[in-house]
Amino acid sequence: MSKENNYDIVKVDLSEGRDYPIYIGTGYDDDQAGKLLASHIDGRDALLITNDRISPMYLAKYESLLKLGGKQVHTLILPDGEEHKTMEILQRILDKALTEKLDRKCTFVALGGGVIGDMVGFAAAIYQRGVHFVQIPTTVMAMVDSSVGGKTGVNHPLGKNMIGAFHQPQCVFIDTDTLQTLPDRELASGISEIIKYGLIRDADLFHWLEDNMDQLLARDATAMRYAVKRSCENKAEVVKADEKEAGVRATLNLGHTFGHAIESGSGYGTWLHGEAVAIGTAMAATMSARMQWIENDLLQRTYRLLEKAKLPVELPLDSPMDQATFLKYMAADKKVANGQLRLILLKGPLGNCVFTGDFDQEAMVATIDDFVAECQGVKA
Ligand code: NAD
Ligand code: GLY
Repeated sequence: MSKENNYDIVKVDLSEGRDYPIYIGTGYDDDQAGKLLASHIDGRDALLITNDRISPMYLAKYESLLKLGGKQVHTLILPDGEEHKTMEILQRILDKALTEKLDRKCTFVALGGGVIGDMVGFAAAIYQRGVHFVQIPTTVMAMVDSSVGGKTGVNHPLGKNMIGAFHQPQCVFIDTDTLQTLPDRELASGISEIIKYGLIRDADLFHWLEDNMDQLLARDATAMRYAVKRSCENKAEVVKADEKEAGVRATLNLGHTFGHAIESGSGYGTWLHGEAVAIGTAMAATMSARMQWIENDLLQRTYRLLEKAKLPVELPLDSPMDQATFLKYMAADKKVANGQLRLILLKGPLGNCVFTGDFDQEAMVATIDDFVAECQGVKA
């Protein structure tokens, strides 16, 4: 970390002086790293929040880094898991901040994956009408997607991420070394979002993934750093263009409408977010091909790449998902406008997509039926 250029910086350009850096590097264990992190924390107090799985591995390290940077550090350990991404658990963050008498100059620091990042960000958005927060993502999912762009929130029993706010962090501090302890299934889950950038807007990244998936799965440091950086660049460009999702930002949700229905309909915690998104991406690509919006070759390459990443592309035989469950949860999607469902679908050559409500409903229902029939062991 102390060595010159031991990290890359991707800038998220926002209006009104809200720009922030994403640091992508390794190490971060000395005085200089502490000062760098602390330079994004205005006040004296930092509330460092993680979960009971990550805390034994990384809490002490980041607590000392913040102390090296001169901060007074308060810590909170939450239960691990998507099923704990709730208002009840969020309340514990607010309780802790109030009990410790943290004022509006404090900064919340999220150490963990997307669940911790989304919850801590939301708590920061509402604590005393908004305090600063910093993201220290420790999963691929969080490094390439959730820690960047300011979407924060919690789940509701009736739908995923239904309660939340846009609240941008002061910085994102990525140490790709933390991925060495990430389970294989979680690694693959995050890679689904990298594949997403390739499909919706970055054909070169898709080609690179086709050539380098084995290195990524082997957690090769150079490959991982490249994939994280390229993904952050894609995300930063989209967020700059459309911070509050009036249009193009919705394209980052390729596969998510089907995927959120699978997550909600199967029970939180059954599927990893990226796994549900991978099946959703297979469904979106299948539907796009059914409407002849993409060539069959692109459909096959999409399936091949998802499978190469060891991601699921169909529902398992014991899945509770049926057509009615899909349609119920999809109708509650945040992209529904005036009662009309809008989807992100692939259209044209690799790297192109559309966000539209103007699609063939029958193609959508037929696609759902095909995937449901497969999981019920019936060949469509
Ligand atoms: P997660 O936060 O549940 O982390 C996955 C698992 O890995 C957890 O058990 C976690 O404790 C563990 N873990 C984290 N870092 C580890 C490490 N370095 N070593 C070992 N174990 C580690 O899941 P996730 O995939 O990071 O994030 C999924 C969440 O992110 C979902 O709730 C999703 O809705 C949200 N999300 C939000 C956005 C956004 O823009 N805000 C984007 C994508 C996903
Ligand atoms: N992960 C989708 C978004 O940030 O918009």
